[in-house]
Amino acid sequence: MSRFAHPAGDMHAASAIVAVTGGAAPEERPPHTPADLNALEPAIWPRTSGRIEGAVTIGGVDVRDLAKEYGTPLYVVDEEDFRSRCRDYRTAFHDGEVHYAGKAFLCREVARWIDQEGLGLDVCSAGELAVALSVGFPPARMTLHGNNKSLAELEKAVEVGVGHIVVDSYEEIARLGYLAERHGVRPKVMIRVTVGVEAHTHEFIATAHDDQKFGLSLSSGAAAEAVRRILALPQLELVGLHSHIGSQITDTAGFEVAARRLARLLVQIKEEHGVVLPELDLGGGYGIPYVAGDEAPDIKVIADGLREIVTKVCESAGLPVPHLTVEPGRAIAGLAGITVYEAGTVKDVEGLRTYVSVDGGMSDNIRTALYGADYTAVLASRDSDARPMLSRLVGKHCESGDMVVRDLWLPADLVPGDLIAVAGTGAYCRSLANNYNYLPKPAVVAVSKGRARVIVRRETEEDLLRGQL
Ligand code: LLP
Repeated sequence: MSRFAHPAGDMHAASAIVAVTGGAAPEERPPHTPADLNALEPAIWPRTSGRIEGAVTIGGVDVRDLAKEYGTPLYVVDEEDFRSRCRDYRTAFHDGEVHYAGKAFLCREVARWIDQEGLGLDVCSAGELAVALSVGFPPARMTLHGNNKSLAELEKAVEVGVGHIVVDSYEEIARLGYLAERHGVRPKVMIRVTVGVEAHTHEFIATAHDDQKFGLSLSSGAAAEAVRRILALPQLELVGLHSHIGSQITDTAGFEVAARRLARLLVQIKEEHGVVLPELDLGGGYGIPYVAGDEAPDIKVIADGLREIVTKVCESAGLPVPHLTVEPGRAIAGLAGITVYEAGTVKDVEGLRTYVSVDGGMSDNIRTALYGADYTAVLASRDSDARPMLSRLVGKHCESGDMVVRDLWLPADLVPGDLIAVAGTGAYCRSLANNYNYLPKPAVVAVSKGRARVIVRRETEEDLLRGQL
């Protein structure tokens, strides 16, 4: 039986909910009624958002105008917010490198912003690499990741001179050695180390315990063996170690344990081989608030803590302090983006809740269905002083797990045609978007200083049919 299957029986309906969300049934955790349904909590909504004459504005643009001009569902990115978070990270890690993890949300325009803000870029496929190269992103400031990079992907990275390649297996070491020789280059490589940390996050996005597909284990000695193999290949330049313990992590203890273990491995490598590796890449995973009351780590506190740990371990072993890199994705893109939907069917299920259906759903945001993710949403085209109505924001797909927000309060006077905005959708929504039920993927519009422009156009029916016989 699958992990998500549920036993039939008396509690059939209740256990189905638990099975889908991995959390408690709604009656066990009713969301508390917000004091003001119109409020836009500053920690959750984009930095330039607000309400003018009742309607939500972002980047100085009214969401009603955005919906009219570009249609719904619509991803809206606050350029100023996105760029300011790049700067926050650069400031916090002023003596290290910040690489944006492109998987969170990458398109040509975002690659330009990252370049202009002076960040590096992490890619993990030929496709992501192609997007970055297409706008002239300097390959030397990129890192290639992946647990199963193809020979073609590795070759492309070697050919264009990607700055760092993070190796994830022994096979990859051998392949890279061969490719480096063939191209007459000496790529810089790092080893992805599985440091054995149980990150407190959803199982699907925790990546540093031993029983998963990423990296080379510290405890089994696989990481140390990878070091030996790379050092035996003069074609490769081993520059450091990498760790990424998971995503949407709010408890910073895991980052610190990982940093300490990586630093200790640097010391061991020095002892065994007499080699001093100059770099540590501590990955991403910094959590963001999605709903009121969510804790989010302070990036300056994290940066100072990590620097201190690495410095202490290395200095006490007489090693120079390595250059640090971090790889935030969600923490840069997540809160910069919102999704604007139009409400359609509003169905009151007597005694339970009101189902508010929107014109998208699990094709533009699969995170609720996949991870039991939670979001904040508001009536966006106007304000309202109607009473709060316990609601579930659902999509239009043929699946009952197609939820955008499982439990929320919306004003009771909500009607079809109203616009609803969902906060915190800037990361892992467009990049995980799909065409289930042949829904075209929404456009992405960037807003800044009162102006809006399409940075990824909406898919059309023609796009959906392209490539078919
Ligand atoms: N570095 C590496 C090697 C990674 O694998 C990831 C994310 C990051 C950095 C960036 O992590 P972030 O700072 O964004 O948490 N689809 C999931 C998240 C998957 C994360 C995969 N790796 C979600 O929607 O929650």
